[in-house]
Amino acid sequence: MKTIFSGIQPSGTITLGNYIGALKQFVELQNEYNCYFCIVDQHAITVPQDPVALRKNIRSLAALYIAVGIDPDKATLFIQSEVPAHAQAGWIMQCISYIGELERMTQFKDKSAGKEAVSASLLTYPPLMAADILLYNADLVPVGEDQKQHLELTRDLAERFNKKYRDILTIPDVRIPEVGARIMSLQDPTKKMSKSDPNQKAFLSLLDEPKQIEKKIKSAVTDSEGIVKYDKVNKPGISNLLSIYSILGGKSISELEEMYQGKGYGDFKSDLAEVVVNAFKPIQDKYYELINSSELDDILDRGAEKANKVASKTLKKMENAMGLGRKKR
Ligand code: TYM
Repeated sequence: MKTIFSGIQPSGTITLGNYIGALKQFVELQNEYNCYFCIVDQHAITVPQDPVALRKNIRSLAALYIAVGIDPDKATLFIQSEVPAHAQAGWIMQCISYIGELERMTQFKDKSAGKEAVSASLLTYPPLMAADILLYNADLVPVGEDQKQHLELTRDLAERFNKKYRDILTIPDVRIPEVGARIMSLQDPTKKMSKSDPNQKAFLSLLDEPKQIEKKIKSAVTDSEGIVKYDKVNKPGISNLLSIYSILGGKSISELEEMYQGKGYGDFKSDLAEVVVNAFKPIQDKYYELINSSELDDILDRGAEKANKVASKTLKKMENAMGLGRKKR
């Protein structure tokens, strides 16, 4: 059975973008692959985090993984900082990375632009991400489009390591969904929907209440033409909403265009709000059932134990190949 690794940062609320680009794919893949899903809290601290909020967000993300349908008996769910091999292998990956290639990462450029104090870890974030993936010998990494460049770097680093030391690391492939790889902001449909957007109306959180969902969708930016038609270049707003409707409502874009022929954006948006509310309802119900349960801690304990076993084995191989430490007696 082939192996999958993917991770999500617990750096705030989990958005519809995270759900469609990542979580929804994970649920579909868990039956066919040996899956490791990680709450990457060490990545989250590359930008300042409030400790109390971070703890809360880690638990909340763990509950959401299960609430969307990840089955802990099939997939391994764990917290990155509970598996020390990540930071250790991350250091090794940093040692074989070049500053120039890290500075070329668009996420680094975006996150550091205009800031006076940029943490060193914002630059060395991709080698840690590479370590996450390579420790589990992952064959496939399902992510949204924004992570593609990091995956290319991961492949380069793995190849570099194998060539320089020993052929130990598996070169992973990236898996990006055909539809919904990049869900856009509701307020600026030329920008990615992001949980760190200061404008709350720009994203839908998986935990938004029905009233909030309705309000946000009603105020989503579209165009003045009033025709429900998919045209990503000239009508990015309505095209984004059509993608969301199609994915969550299980109807093709052309079916939707036909359904809303001669109708305005008002009708379309109120139906879409209903589709989103109905899609989120079972997730939210399960989430509130789990969030304070000891079952969640049991799942995370088991996950960390299993992840530690696999990751420390790969780490040992890497260290041996590089000549770190001593030979076993
Ligand atoms: P993060 O936490 O920003 O996002 C988690 C996942 O959600 C996807 N995503 C989106 N997909 C579609 N439309 C959007 N608007 C949207 N916004 C986010 C992301 O592509 C991602 O798949 N660096 C990663 C976390 C990470 C990781 C890893 C991922 C750390 N180590 C190892 C895979 C493998 C990140 O910041 O994702």
